[in-house]
This record gives sequence, structure tokens and C-alpha cells, in this order.
Amino acid sequence: MEEKSLITKIQEAAAYIRSKYTGQPEIGLILGSGLGVIADLVENPVVIEYQDIPHFPVSTVEGHAGELLLGTVAGREVLLMKGRFHMYEGYGVDTVSFPVRVMKELGIGSLLVTNAAGGVNTSYQAGDLMLIRDHINFTFRNPLIGPNFSELGVRFPDMSEAYSKRLREAAKAVAAEQGIRLQEGVYIGLLGPSYETPAEIRMMRTLGADAVGMSTVAEVIVARHAGLEVLGFSCISNMAAGILDQPLSHEEVMETTERVKQKFLQLILGIIPKM
Ligand code: 6GU
Repeated sequence: MEEKSLITKIQEAAAYIRSKYTGQPEIGLILGSGLGVIADLVENPVVIEYQDIPHFPVSTVEGHAGELLLGTVAGREVLLMKGRFHMYEGYGVDTVSFPVRVMKELGIGSLLVTNAAGGVNTSYQAGDLMLIRDHINFTFRNPLIGPNFSELGVRFPDMSEAYSKRLREAAKAVAAEQGIRLQEGVYIGLLGPSYETPAEIRMMRTLGADAVGMSTVAEVIVARHAGLEVLGFSCISNMAAGILDQPLSHEEVMETTERVKQKFLQLILGIIPKM
């Protein structure tokens, strides 16, 4: 049998989700390491296992659950991905970004993405939150390579305002109200899974990066292709290599995200009604 087209796969995945949830989700949430707790804030959630959704990828990494939650947060209907896909796990760029295509098909208008990232800007500190102003795609993979389906978006999407100015201004206002220090900077996305060398981090700083991570860019490219408004935050979980005289570890990433998760959660809860 011939392989199903991308469009068919998107439609079949969306149809399955619609058969389980009769509401109209407005906002997509893809939350990185440590922020799974926001899932607990979804009221009366409908929970759908990734493995039950046609054509959906399934998570492999421990500590990353694989389920979709649909319900209400702060008065808005959301679709939350509990567990995301990374290219370092071996998934292709199409797989990683497929859920965003399904979100669009379901009628979502905006996407909130978060991640844990290393601080490249030397004025940052572990525990800072950073609003993503822009990104640099250092994965050199693009989810839009291949035939373009004009139903999904244009062949050559504009990326000049990948992260919505309107939503960034709203986020800054919420952070100011809440007394949260919010950095704003450029996220550079790499494949991982090894962390960078000090020489690589110096190079990236020269190129204009403020934070470095292993996710987000593929999802945001698909979201912009689909015309979704995007808002992104990085939790600076550690300083990148060569800045402090200490080795990097995943334990530090987990500890920091745990330490700042209440502040991060409050910020996100404050912003959702404005999306
Ligand atoms: Cl230093 N690098 C990358 N690529 N991802 C990270 C990180 C560093 N810290 C947290 N996530």
C-alpha cells in the first residue's frame, strides 16, 4: 500500500482527538523539562495517550510522559503536550513537528513553547527566565523540506517575527506585574545530545545567541508556516560551557527547573488569558 500523505495523517490524528474531545482548543502548549506540572492545572482534562493517536510519535525518554491533555487553564481551552519529541532521541524533524500540524488542524490559533536552556549571555544566571525574542536554527534541519502543501501554508514562510511581538509585550507586562525578572534574548537550537564545548559557546555568543538548547526551533517553524502566533520562554537552567569553572550536568538542569517552576508557572498562568 502506498504511504499515506502528510495531509491524511494530520487529518486522521485530528479526527481521533476530536472524537475524544468536543470542545474547541484555542492554545497549544508544549512545555519542556520540569514544567510538566502545569498539566495538573488543566481543569477536567481529557487525557489521550500519544500511542492511541494515529500517526503520532511515541516518547522514549524517561521522565517525559506521552499524553495530550485537553481542557481549560485560566479560562482558556488548551491542548497541552505532556512530553515532547527531540531530535537527539533519534526522531526526524518531521516527527518532532507533526503534533504542531495537528494542533493547527484542530483550530488552535497560538502556541506557547517552553524549554530548559543553557545561558550563553554572561549577564544571565541559572534560574533566570528568558522570553525568546528570536531563534537561530543550528540544527540545520527544516521540517518544511519536501513538497509544500498550500493548504498548510506558503512555500517560503516569513520568519521575521517568528515570536509574536504582541505576545512578547503581553508577557513582559505580566512579568512586571508579578515582579518576575524576565530576560529577553535569542535562543539557538542544536541537535544535542552532548552539550557544547567552550569554543562552540564563544562562537554562538559572537553569532548573537543568548541561550542554547536542544528543542523548539522545528516546532516553531511549523507553527509559523501554519500561521500560528508563537510565544516562547527558556528557563536558564545552567550556564553554558566555559562560563563558570564547573562541568555541566543534566542533574543541574533538573534541579534548577524544579527550583524556579512556581515562578515559571505563575508567569504562564498570567499570560494564557492574554493569548
Ligand atoms: Cl548548556 N546546551 C544545550 N544544548 N542544551 C541545554 C543546555 C546547554 N543547558 C540546558 N539545556
